Amino acid sequence: MRALTIDAHGGLDQLRYRTDLPRPTPGPGEVRVRVRAAALNRLDLWVLGGIPGVSIRPPWIVGADACGAVDQLGKGVTDLADGDQVMINPGWVADGSDPDDEPTAMGYGILGEHYPGTLAEYLVVPARCCRVVPASLDPAAAAAATLVGLTAWRMVVSRARVEPGDDVLIWGIGGGVALAALAICKSIGACTWVTSSSDDKLARAAALGADVCLNHAAVDVGKEVRRRTAKRGVSVVIDSVGTATWGASLAALGRNGRLVTCGGTSGAMVETDVRRLFWNQWTLMGSTMGSQREFSAVVAAVVDGRLRVPIDLVVPLDAGHTGYERLASGAQFGKVVIRVAE
Ligand SMILES: NC(=O)c1ccc[n+]([C@@H]2O[C@H](COP(=O)([O-])OP(=O)(O)OC[C@H]3O[C@@H](n4cnc5c(N)ncnc54)[C@H](OP(=O)(O)O)[C@@H]3O)[C@@H](O)[C@H]2O)c1
Repeated sequence: MRALTIDAHGGLDQLRYRTDLPRPTPGPGEVRVRVRAAALNRLDLWVLGGIPGVSIRPPWIVGADACGAVDQLGKGVTDLADGDQVMINPGWVADGSDPDDEPTAMGYGILGEHYPGTLAEYLVVPARCCRVVPASLDPAAAAAATLVGLTAWRMVVSRARVEPGDDVLIWGIGGGVALAALAICKSIGACTWVTSSSDDKLARAAALGADVCLNHAAVDVGKEVRRRTAKRGVSVVIDSVGTATWGASLAALGRNGRLVTCGGTSGAMVETDVRRLFWNQWTLMGSTMGSQREFSAVVAAVVDGRLRVPIDLVVPLDAGHTGYERLASGAQFGKVVIRVAE
């Protein structure tokens, strides 16, 4: 089968398009999916560069997001049928010991990082990770909303518990997590404050309903938020940027505020003044991926149109390298999708 792989960690030159890989076979409780569309995430760049403590077995198939059609059922799978179009939860507990596949459970892993990835013609996953979606749902849109939708859902709904009336600051609106968070916050009825270094991206975010758009390259976001809120600050911050934004995130966060982080695109080390933490009674939270229960909620939101993540670029599998280049450039607004099959 065809697939995009790496044999070793390094730069984009490590990516290799192959046509000679064997089709995987589903074991008991698993299904094989014929991939229609896959999508790239920042995670794919981290895996390419090498993640401490995570080892790959060459030829390693990359990619965490996919939508496709069920192609073969493993023993004992009765709730899926050949040809069903499915969205796939990209994370699960390897030994099946947690039916809800909580990301905090021991043995939790992610496609493309711990399990062979999605940028391939065929993929084997546990049947419990599959949700049947209408055949009319565009597989590119479904793949684009999967990992970032799940991540943002847990951040916004489960961790920050955003409600109508919350002011939510979302950093880096070109990124997939940020755009998924924007869509989820809008569907809840929160007031959204978004940032970007690009006025063009901000204009596109405004067209998607972002309420306040701030260019973080032109203004001090912390000060600007306080100025516009008469020093009150926002009630929630969604930060996936890390080092570069942490200080301004806290400067923007009001009393009793909740900050949720899932990433450190700009760097991992941050500094917090503990006096401001206790005086303002902040809640600083980490979040990673989501459970099966949360994934079902994400799929429902994708199917009924509440959760759409814009697509920046679609390329065929044999041009996956071009997709990675686009992601690495930081110029994208939304997701890079890899079309695997027609
Ligand atoms: N823990 C989890 O479960 C999980 C899941 C998904 C992602 N993540 C992590 O979350 C992060 C976001 O991932 P992603 O795929 O959505 O997007 P991404 O490609 O990593 O993020 C791109 C956005 O980050 C913004 N950004 C980058 N450097 C910045 C800086 N110095 N200051 C302000 N903004 C900056 C950019 O904003 P502009 O271009 O708009 O200026 C860009 O749009 C990544 O680190 C990823 O590894 C974690």
